[in-house]
Amino acid sequence: MLKIGPLAIPSGCILSPLSGVSDLPFRMINRSFGCEFAFLEMISARSLGWKSKKTDRKLVTCAADKPLGIQLLGSDITMMQKAMDIVLSQYRFDIIDFNAACPVHKLTDRGEGAGLLKTPQKLFEILKIMTAMSPVPVTVKIRTGWDENSVNAREVALYAQDAGVKALFIHGRTRKQQYSGGVDYRVIKEVKAALSIPVIAGGDVLSAGLVKKMFEETGCDGVVIARGALGNPWIFRQTAALMENNTILPRPQPEEVTGTMIKHLDAHCEFYGEKIGIITFRKFFHWYAREHKGTRRMRTKAGLVETREQMIELINQLQALGLPSPVSA
Ligand SMILES: Cc1cc2nc3c(=O)[nH]c(=O)nc-3n(C[C@H](O)[C@H](O)[C@H](O)COP(=O)(O)O)c2cc1C
Repeated sequence: MLKIGPLAIPSGCILSPLSGVSDLPFRMINRSFGCEFAFLEMISARSLGWKSKKTDRKLVTCAADKPLGIQLLGSDITMMQKAMDIVLSQYRFDIIDFNAACPVHKLTDRGEGAGLLKTPQKLFEILKIMTAMSPVPVTVKIRTGWDENSVNAREVALYAQDAGVKALFIHGRTRKQQYSGGVDYRVIKEVKAALSIPVIAGGDVLSAGLVKKMFEETGCDGVVIARGALGNPWIFRQTAALMENNTILPRPQPEEVTGTMIKHLDAHCEFYGEKIGIITFRKFFHWYAREHKGTRRMRTKAGLVETREQMIELINQLQALGLPSPVSA
């Protein structure tokens, strides 16, 4: 049982923030297969003050979309204070996470995201202010270090714990590795051993089997699922079966896959309107279909689809192929 402050997450599995992906339809599809805690995609502290339509949409939620976390990004202390003011006065999130893990150049160049791994003292100051302001748990997400010559996750994690965060998320790669190369279970294990707060680990958690492996190899308190949920919300159901009953569930039947795709597609059309909803769903078609052999042309076609009817036609073609569904364990 993962506990973050007053919050209990029995499975210990959390849906990671995913920029450009973690909208309300995505979160709800994953919740329908057992996801117990989800995040909005990362929101920059700077953009929160602008009141842009784009940022407002990222913040849209609903009663069933609970419990839910927000993840903030920034490095300027005054701006972080303003962002916290806005979040605390206008919204009700269960966790406020701070991103010290994003590897994007544009952000790290101005000391944000993983750039903060180079300045643990500054990270400490930001987290100290956030924890002092917040009545709900503040958490932080880090990486193992900047590069292989500066693996300092243990030091950074201790700073964060001293600042009062209630849990620490760690992606087991350096900033230099971005999203490829092996995940460093050893560093995650070291961080877990050094802290008294819960440690939630991530990196290449692409199947139920890899969730189990992450728990076993690192002794972590929770696991964060990211790319493993893209076109594969069943990962939550499969993980529960494996962790609770040591059962490897069969792959979902093609009818369940396509039924889920249609539900997801319709949620996009409702959330964004059909025109934008189809465009934003295209990448999901790709993710749902990618495990099925021989769908390359179909996936290319999906990138050009403009109406719901055309997308449904492609989904039906996928089902008619009777191909294997996304990976199970
Ligand atoms: C498309 C995409 C968007 C992401 N956006 C975020 C984000 O907004 N905030 C964050 O902390 N991590 C973000 N990440 C990182 C993931 O949450 C996760 O830490 C990383 O992908 C490692 O897990 P995985 O190897 O199991 O995918 C993103 C990753 C991807 C692939």
